[in-house]
Amino acid sequence: MTTPWGELALARFPEDPRERLRAWDASDEYLLKHLADQGTPLSGTVVVVGDRWGALVTALAAHRPVQITDSFLAQEATRANLGRNGVATGTVRLLTTQDPPPDRVDVLLVRVPKSLALLEDQLLRLAPAVHEGTVVVGTGMVKEIHTSTLRLFERILGPTRTSLAEKKARLIFCTPEPSREREPSVHPWPYTYTLPGGIGSVSGRTVVNHAGVFCADRLDIGTRFFLQHLPDTKGTRRVVDLGCGNGVVGTAVALANPEAEVLFVDESFQAVASAEATYKANGVPGHAEFRVGDGLAGVPAGSVDLALTNPPFHSHQTTTDATAWRMFSGARRALGPGGELWVIGNRHLGYHVKLRRLFGNSRLVASDAKFVVLKAVKE
Ligand SMILES: C[S@@+](CC[C@H](N)C(=O)[O-])C[C@H]1O[C@@H](n2cnc3c(N)ncnc32)[C@H](O)[C@@H]1O
Repeated sequence: MTTPWGELALARFPEDPRERLRAWDASDEYLLKHLADQGTPLSGTVVVVGDRWGALVTALAAHRPVQITDSFLAQEATRANLGRNGVATGTVRLLTTQDPPPDRVDVLLVRVPKSLALLEDQLLRLAPAVHEGTVVVGTGMVKEIHTSTLRLFERILGPTRTSLAEKKARLIFCTPEPSREREPSVHPWPYTYTLPGGIGSVSGRTVVNHAGVFCADRLDIGTRFFLQHLPDTKGTRRVVDLGCGNGVVGTAVALANPEAEVLFVDESFQAVASAEATYKANGVPGHAEFRVGDGLAGVPAGSVDLALTNPPFHSHQTTTDATAWRMFSGARRALGPGGELWVIGNRHLGYHVKLRRLFGNSRLVASDAKFVVLKAVKE
């Protein structure tokens, strides 16, 4: 990436030779160019929220920024990109959306996330640290910035306007008015709702959702179909809820089979916190582990009996099957002999082809007009 201060070598995480997608976009470039052109003073505490792959904090490393992200992959990409560009460890403070934010913010740079709820949550958490002199600039692709996005900045921080579009990217300028009387902002997250009936062991149970989690305000119809067709886990010990989101699938297994040891994994810090809260809210007997990570990377080979997943098919705004592929191949490695991977997906995604390639088998367990539940066995 060419920045006003020089060239940077950047990559996504994990690096995938099949998918050579750039680790930055026009909205990162636009923001950096604006800061340089305007001579924005980057002094005090510079906070960067939602940096996708670490391009912004790597470019601004000289100002010792603080990065706040919900994504394990983004954090790992940032670590690698800082190293690639010779930035010493510790120069950039890497925080997650679950960590307490800094007490004072002098420059707030926001790469607008896909989830409006996550943006709301982050702005509300940071608002007490923002003062009248804080420089606030948001950035995103034109298609990611809506009137509702601007209204959030306006409601939580102060008057907001946008720039002209450049290479399909736009900037958001917000002038904080911490002393202005505004409607008290009730922090709506985490959000808790009660599950409907007819979905097995979790019927009528409670689900806790931190902001930005998949289907945070209602049960997803695919997840509902999965819950109605989960395997009988009697005798099964080590189960993984892979890409656990709010943890509803793993909690269903734990409720149905108190002998099961359930590992909840997600790359979103908000998701893993939600899964833990959901599990605890239901007073589930048994043993569980909660882990932020990339699929089953780091889980010992052969240590899992059953993996359950509703894989994502987006990375930010881009459709991709790379994550599903990593999840399936990670499951094949982590499963012991006879272990099973159960997958729910939209029919059109053709997951059976991938499962056959990896496992040599794929059986249709259930289907309706929209979804299929597939099972692959490690032979
Ligand atoms: C379609 S949602 C399913 C969530 C939940 N299992 C459900 O059915 O409600 C997919 C989940 O995969 C997670 N995810 C995406 N990439 C991942 C990765 N590389 N490793 C682990 N989880 C990932 C997302 O954060 C999201 O929570």
